[in-house]
Amino acid sequence: MTENHQQADARGHFIVFEGGDGCGKSTQAAQLAERLDATLTREPGGTAVGARIRALVLDPDFPELGDRTEALLMAADRAQHVTEVIEPALAAGRHVVSDRHVASSLAYQGVGRGLGVDAVLELNRFGTGELVPDLIVLLDVDLHEASERLGDDLDRIEAAGSDLASLVRDSYHGFAAEHPDRWAIVDGNGSVGEVADRVAAVVQERLGLG
Ligand code: TYD
Repeated sequence: MTENHQQADARGHFIVFEGGDGCGKSTQAAQLAERLDATLTREPGGTAVGARIRALVLDPDFPELGDRTEALLMAADRAQHVTEVIEPALAAGRHVVSDRHVASSLAYQGVGRGLGVDAVLELNRFGTGELVPDLIVLLDVDLHEASERLGDDLDRIEAAGSDLASLVRDSYHGFAAEHPDRWAIVDGNGSVGEVADRVAAVVQERLGLG
């Protein structure tokens, strides 16, 4: 094997969880990261800089924060996250499990806020370069169940309500249908253990991991 092949083999896999608010991604991302001994991270807020951005962009005290500002802040968080956390971990041969990535911006800002998927994708390409996840797990729960799980303590984006939630859900399904090689839809209804087993089966089948 050439040296280049060895380096390519040594690179970790990048797995992303996506889904609407209250779908249980954070719990499932943590479970999978533990199972794979992977680096667990999230967007927004996966770095110290990102934690500041997250606090700002989700703060319900800023109702005036505009949709374009929101998209730019998410992309800025991601740029820092890719450079500081994701790329170095993958390059060092670690698997990375991220709770949300570019598809969140395409769904929430591109479709949900109506900025356009292409415009938001371009913005994110500038921020993140050519990094593409090896697998995106879409955790699918019905909107009623998700809103029950969310409760009443809502951040600025969650507070945008059921129209946004339903646009986001439909866009995720559209992306998954467009790129079935990269996306896997997993039923997020049921106990944490049941869903974790479904996720593990998909990751094993698609990437041969676990
Ligand atoms: P998340 O951390 O998944 O929510 P929670 O705090 O409930 O675990 O995401 C925070 C919010 O940010 C969520 O409403 C989705 C939104 N979001 C976007 O609108 N665009 C993005 O690019 C990302 C990463 C998140």
